[in-house]
Formats: sequence, C-alpha cells, structure tokens
Amino acid sequence: MNLIISNYIRFFVTLFIGLTIIFSCSSTQKAHTFAVDSNKGLKDYYQSYFPIGVAVSPHALNSDESSLIKLNFNSLTPENDMKMEAIHPKEFVYNWKPADAIVAFAQQNNMKVRGHTLVWHNQTPDWIFKDTKTGKQVTKEVLFQRIKEHITQVVSHFKGSVYAWDVVNEVISDDPKEFYRNSKYLEICGEEFIFKAFQWAHETDPNAVLFYNDYNEIDPRKRAKIITLIKKLKAAGVPINAVGLQSHWAVDQPTKEQLENTLNDFSKLGLKLQITELDISVYPKEHQAREERAEDLDTIFSAAIEEKQVEQYRMCFGLFRKYKELITGVTFWNVSDRESWLDNFPVKNRKDYPLLFDKNLAPKKAYWEVAKF
Ligand code: G3I
Repeated sequence: MNLIISNYIRFFVTLFIGLTIIFSCSSTQKAHTFAVDSNKGLKDYYQSYFPIGVAVSPHALNSDESSLIKLNFNSLTPENDMKMEAIHPKEFVYNWKPADAIVAFAQQNNMKVRGHTLVWHNQTPDWIFKDTKTGKQVTKEVLFQRIKEHITQVVSHFKGSVYAWDVVNEVISDDPKEFYRNSKYLEICGEEFIFKAFQWAHETDPNAVLFYNDYNEIDPRKRAKIITLIKKLKAAGVPINAVGLQSHWAVDQPTKEQLENTLNDFSKLGLKLQITELDISVYPKEHQAREERAEDLDTIFSAAIEEKQVEQYRMCFGLFRKYKELITGVTFWNVSDRESWLDNFPVKNRKDYPLLFDKNLAPKKAYWEVAKF
C-alpha cells in the first residue's frame, strides 16, 4: 500500500516538474520570438484588433522609409495630396498624380487607403470662393455647385480604391462661446454645406465609409459640441458612418480618465470610431501657433521625457484595445521622428519626437510598449 502511495506521489511530482519545465520553456520561447521576429510589424501584432495606418507623402514611399511602412502598416492616408489645394488647385484642373502614386503603393502592398479630406477650411484654394470674372465672393448657389463638383470628381476618381473619406474636417469651434468654426464655407453657405457634403459623397460612392473628423475631443466642451453635430446629422438622415478622432496628443494629455470618457461618450452614438492622426508630442499640448520662447530651445529627447511618452502610448493603446469593438482603425500622423508636422507647430523649427520610430527609423521604447501586450 505504502509503495502504491509513494509511486503515486512520485508520478505527480514528476508530472508537476515536467509541466513546469514545458510552460517555462514555452513562455521563454514566446518572449524570445517576440523580441527577434523581424518579419512582424505593428499591423501583425494588431491583426485581431484594427488596421494600423500612417499618413504619408509619395516621397516617403520611394525613400528608405518604404520597407518600414510595408512591414508596420496596412492602411495609408495621404498627408496632403488629396486636400483641395493639392488635388484641385484651379477650377476644372485636377492633379491626380501624387495621390494616385500613394493609392498604387497601397494596392501593391495590400493596404487600405483613407481619403483625407473633402471639405476643410484649411489648404483650400481661394478660387473656390471667388467669381471667375469679377473676383468677388461667390453666391451660396455657386459655392454649392463647386463643392459638389469637387466631391463628385474626387470621390469617383478613387471609387473602389479609397474605402473611407474624411468628408468634413474640423468645423467645430475651439471657442466655448461658438458652436461652428468661422470659415468661408460657413459664411457663404451656412451649416447646410456639412449636410450636403455627406450627401454628395454618398451619392458618388455608396460603399465608402463617411467620417466627420476633428481634434481635441478629449475636451468635454468640444466633445459635447461634436456629439451634438453628429446627432443633428443623424436626425436629418445624413449618410454619416463614423467619427474620426485626430488624436494629436502629448505627454501631458489626455489622462486615462479623459480618454476613457471620450471613447465611452462616442460609443453611445452607434457609429464606429477611428483614431485618424495619432501622435504624442513631447511638449505640453498647445492648439495655436505661436512665436518661439526661450524654453523652446530645449529640444533634447531626454530619458525622462521618453519614459513619459512610453507611459502615454502604453495607456492609449491599452484603451484602444479595450474598445476594439468600437475602433476600426488607428492611424499615425507621419512615419518617424525624422519628420513630423509638429516640428513646425505650434513653434516653427522646434524639433519634436512624437512617433514610434526614431530619426534613424529604429523602433523606440514606445514601439515595444505598443507592440508587446
Ligand atoms: O505645398 C507648399 C509648397 O508649395 C511650398 O513650397 C512649401 C514651403 O513651406 O509649403 C508647402 O505647403 C506645406 C503643406 O503642408 C504641403 O506640404 C505647408 O507649408 C505646410 O504648412 C503644410 O502643413 C500641413 C498641415 O496639415 C497644413 O494645415 C502638414 O504637412 C499636415 O501634416 C497637416 O495635417 C493636418 C491634417 O490634414 C488635419 N488635421 C491636423 C493635421 C496637422 O495640422
């Protein structure tokens, strides 16, 4: 009897040790594989979550950034080349070439393309607001006709190759006292241009996913206005499918609570969300351009700053994963710290380090925090 019991004990002890060795080997193996697998990029780590995108110029696709882009991203947004001043610089004149090059690269590499952006107060050529002969401001009817022509031409050119459009960009005011941002579009057409823009985009490509895109939704007052606008559009039967949170953030914002409240509030709208222009500046967040100050000369990416940025990226992606049923894409605004629009905003020529790859295109610590979860 004693012999049977001691054999049983020996059997279970051996089994326990064996399983411990197997499990510890497999977890070491996993960590090891993770660290050295050079065939995997961000898009692969997030395969069961959402596409990972990046804003690009055609130049980036022909540079040494190209292989990094192919490995890490499965969605592209033209940073500037589909904006009106670039693609439709004069009446009836369209410049398709740069945007076509981005779309071709995406198709060759099985990537999605987000269209950015059809109606925006910025990077819009002046001709659209002026009478061709007199140079005077056009009437509402003429402006509607021109916006319709622009949307119809651009959306039909990319029909079937651009799956989503930022139809209207940044029409909500940052000023708590105003609802809409003041713009020539608003001045001439009133708010109707927002409603009509979605309608025309939908009529041209009924399969395209149509977005309202804006920034600083983490501010509860601005968020409330954006939500009011979306509800208004939905109530009027406007074909809007999704909301883009640009997400130009910084090491000091958003807090976890702010971001969670933001995602939670938008989740109640019944529309999908995308993070459309993500970057995390190493400087305290400012939304207005300004002159350089003495402290702006300190542009070193110190270890302490890097830790803050790592923490911020870890927190943001933790929440993005938590809300994966809501979020259908996360796009970074620019490829690496070699070049970002933040190098010139809010202060001209102040170097920023807002992305996951450094100036030499190597993954930063924050990259591994995002990839490893
Ligand atoms: O095209 C001209 C070129 O002809 C000229 O020689 C050159 C000299 O500076 O400027 C070129 O224009 C630049 C343009 O990008 C195209 O490269 C402008 O100076 C520059 O200010 C402009 O910046 C873009 C900015 O939008 C304009 O508002 C950034 O690259 C682009 O990243 C940024 O993207 C926006 C999103 O579309 C919307 N959300 C905010 C985001 C960041 O501002």
